[in-house]
Amino acid sequence: MSKELFKGSILFGPVPAVLVTTVNEEGKANVFTVGWTGVACTHPPMVTIAVRKERLSYENIVVAGEFVINLTTRDMLKMTDFCGCRSGRKVDKIKHFGLELESGVDVSVPSLKKSPVALECKVRSITELGSHDLFVAEIVRNKIEKSLIDENGKFDLSKANLLAYCHGEYFALNRRPLATFGHSVAKKSTRQAQHRKRMEQMKKKGRR
Ligand SMILES: Cc1cc2nc3c(=O)[nH]c(=O)nc-3n(C[C@H](O)[C@H](O)[C@H](O)COP(=O)(O)O)c2cc1C
Repeated sequence: MSKELFKGSILFGPVPAVLVTTVNEEGKANVFTVGWTGVACTHPPMVTIAVRKERLSYENIVVAGEFVINLTTRDMLKMTDFCGCRSGRKVDKIKHFGLELESGVDVSVPSLKKSPVALECKVRSITELGSHDLFVAEIVRNKIEKSLIDENGKFDLSKANLLAYCHGEYFALNRRPLATFGHSVAKKSTRQAQHRKRMEQMKKKGRR
């Protein structure tokens, strides 16, 4: 491949476009879109979100020390874009979309009922970087839509049509997975067994 050179900037993707729910001091919920999010640690489970100080959500997160990351799906495309273009200072985004909320289990912040995966997070540190501050937070509870958990207790997120964001465009992850973790180093017999299992599962679900 032959490369053009650009100055350092965020040409990085795809990333998930998530909806982050927060509450203010009075417990009123708000929701905003975050693309600058990532996994930071497995044990303890930690994630990051990068947020500009001027966001209403920034204030809410600093005051509450908690937030919820709601993964988004194809069906949530319009609200994902809207919640990233309008501030809760001007529009009650939850009312605007008639969003149903589910109470937090280990945090005071509700999650979005429509989202298949909600991660309840407690802020562990805040680092000023420039335009954005980086919140490092521990996931204290995962809430997963039951229909996405198969008979072996494994998540099948390929059914969820999750949304991704890449350089200003949204994409739905609506294809079957190409392969599973470790397939490149798995023994041939293991690979064949995995392949057989996948085919059986697909037959059961009636997918090609
Ligand atoms: C796809 C997308 C990704 C975004 N990612 C971020 C982000 O990572 N951090 C951030 O501070 N704002 C991000 N924004 C902008 C905020 O979501 C937007 O300013 C929002 O209106 C803030 O709402 P609030 O004032 O109610 O908190 C993003 C917007 C879109 C559409």
